[in-house]
Amino acid sequence: MNIENLLKKTLSSSQYQAINILGEQFDRLGIRAFLVGGTVRDLLLGNSITDIDIVLESNPHHVIAKFDVKYEIEIVSYSQFGTCKINLLGQIIDLAMARKEKYPFPGDLPVVEQASFEDDLARRDFSINALAAGINRSDWGELIDFHDGLADLTSKRIRVLHCESFEDDPTRIFRGLRYSARLGFDLENKTKGLLIAGLEFLPLLSGVRVTSEIRKVFSEENSAAILNALDQYKVMKYVHEGFPSGSDLIKRRELLGSLGIDSNNRDLYAFISLISPTQRQNVIVRMNLGNEFLKFGSDIGRIELLEEEASRSDIHDQLKQVSETAMLVAGTYVSTKTKSHLDLFLEELNNINLLIGGEDLIDLGMSQGPRVGDVLSKTLAHMIESGPLSKSEQILVAKRFI
Ligand code: CTP
Repeated sequence: MNIENLLKKTLSSSQYQAINILGEQFDRLGIRAFLVGGTVRDLLLGNSITDIDIVLESNPHHVIAKFDVKYEIEIVSYSQFGTCKINLLGQIIDLAMARKEKYPFPGDLPVVEQASFEDDLARRDFSINALAAGINRSDWGELIDFHDGLADLTSKRIRVLHCESFEDDPTRIFRGLRYSARLGFDLENKTKGLLIAGLEFLPLLSGVRVTSEIRKVFSEENSAAILNALDQYKVMKYVHEGFPSGSDLIKRRELLGSLGIDSNNRDLYAFISLISPTQRQNVIVRMNLGNEFLKFGSDIGRIELLEEEASRSDIHDQLKQVSETAMLVAGTYVSTKTKSHLDLFLEELNNINLLIGGEDLIDLGMSQGPRVGDVLSKTLAHMIESGPLSKSEQILVAKRFI
């Protein structure tokens, strides 16, 4: 089967032209190259193409150096593992060296070695992602389907290529459920059994890989369906017992949707807010989320610990270092009384400032020293309890503490 027609119809003219130029250059250098993975899958599904992935039987970084200079190819990035992102005619294209992968231990990143294009297809996650199409002149647009991916695309089936797929790389559990919900496909029966058997390997994934998969789920249009599928297979609980359920996440995300919180991290804030206070810092560390999220976790912990009967100064002390984002997030689920403490802080206490300084107290006859600071703190504490004062009123109050 040849998909030249699909290439012409689905790709933009600069995408088509860029792939053509690459094919011609690879021909000149005697290198086999193919469109692969999601690019071919989405072409066959008639979806527009945003990511162009090409595999070649050589290290792209070395090959690009030999391209005709007139094409002004820009290298956007490259890695030591034989991948290279280039910009050609304004199109970002991923070039990867055909490779074999060995997984020293379940959940580890693979050890990669250069291999044939056939090996490269065989290492992939699902049959629908193991389709390819030639871009050399001799086989331009020729569909390559060693693993019956086309039949699975037609029958709307997600199927792994071999029995160890999920064990080798448990992120494929997330991936399979993502594709299933995104495309409206079913897991093939044997694949479903293997996915369930692979759940026990999820705890072996590094925090960075887990977080990357969770972020990918959040970024999908149909993320609620994926979160429900994650619940169905108890994926979250397998990764870490402290992870929240997908259904709770769906609800909490909706509450946060209209609050103007940074949309890059909003879903992760919802995620963290749902973890029990005793597990929260452990989970944040497990996910390798870094200091910004550790601070967020401890901020919402402070809010949750606010006593219902807290005084104005307790509220001020507890919240003065807490971020506004944490207050917005916690405000969606704490008790009405705690919410009123948050409102009091944001609307009034946070705006109470000292308008006097040490020099004013020295003008009043105090000598320099730590007592100046004491008097200023007491003046501020007085206002926190009684309300804001003008500068002259603050001086009167300060005089009482001198
Ligand atoms: N791949 C894999 N196993 C993984 C990750 C990726 O086999 N754990 C392979 C698949 O063949 C996949 C390709 O690498 O098609 C590219 O990966 P990625 O960019 O993550 O996926 P896409 O197929 O492009 O899908 P998406 O539309 O989600 O970007």
